[in-house]
Amino acid sequence: MRRVAVVTGASSGIGRALALELARDGYDVGLTARRVDRLESLAAAIRATGARAECVAADAARRDETHHAMRTLAERLGPIYLLVANAGIALGTDALEPDADALEAEFRVNLFGAFYAIEAVIPSMREHGAGHVVAMSSLAGYRGLPGAAGYCATKAALTRLIEGMRPDWALAGIRATIVHPGYVRSEMTDRNRFRMPFLMETEQAASLMVRAIRRRKKVCEFPRRMSLLVRCLVRYLPDRLLVTRVRADKQRARL
Ligand SMILES: NC(=O)c1ccc[n+]([C@@H]2O[C@H](COP(=O)([O-])OP(=O)(O)OC[C@H]3O[C@@H](n4cnc5c(N)ncnc54)[C@H](OP(=O)(O)O)[C@@H]3O)[C@@H](O)[C@H]2O)c1
Repeated sequence: MRRVAVVTGASSGIGRALALELARDGYDVGLTARRVDRLESLAAAIRATGARAECVAADAARRDETHHAMRTLAERLGPIYLLVANAGIALGTDALEPDADALEAEFRVNLFGAFYAIEAVIPSMREHGAGHVVAMSSLAGYRGLPGAAGYCATKAALTRLIEGMRPDWALAGIRATIVHPGYVRSEMTDRNRFRMPFLMETEQAASLMVRAIRRRKKVCEFPRRMSLLVRCLVRYLPDRLLVTRVRADKQRARL
């Protein structure tokens, strides 16, 4: 029997590619995001591969909508074995014109949105003594970056949140994988006007994630060279070097 996976933020980018790859890997797939037309066409593409697929529109920032989506998908497809908490936004942070609305919105989707989905699926995973939670964090969680301080903070918080819950989940038969991508081509990165080293295509990212899920890895980081760069260098760079880099990027973007 095929297991059921649910992917949040499945209407574009990494979530879309991952949903397709999970279907190819033998899962029936539940999809959520706000843009329902995108979800419906993805569900049709998944069904064409022979897997079952259902979609429910939900704003990840809304606890009630997220719970409703998880409940409905489980009713239509069966108990959720794999949750991929992927929905995310990056609004940018202007340190000189701080805006709490933007920071709250980022936390609401990137951290609380993931937690609302987790909160909705853990009871059934506990009951079955089996499940797998995948959280889409980022290499940006290793270091606060100028212009993206709020986003980095949400991803650092998400990584710590999952790390802290993982041991108790393991005792209940529930696995967890924290994903730390570098730059992956998507609607989110299409907006960036700066150079993105080692930019990866979504399909390649999805295939690496599915392999990590199959191997029940605790952490999945890619591209390897970007991961090394961030963990060994960027993390320890002095502030003045980061500021110089940001100024150069801004100048390049204006040209
Ligand atoms: N691309 C990268 O380089 C990169 C690197 C590290 C981590 N990530 C993370 O990967 C995840 C996917 O991002 P992506 O790069 O694939 O960008 P993307 O193409 O912009 O996808 C973002 C997804 O999140 C959904 N989403 C955003 N706000 C939502 C909300 N309020 N409610 C429900 N769904 C919402 C979007 O769907 P709707 O707009 O239809 O709601 C969309 O499906 C994010 O968590 C991002 O932080 C990306």
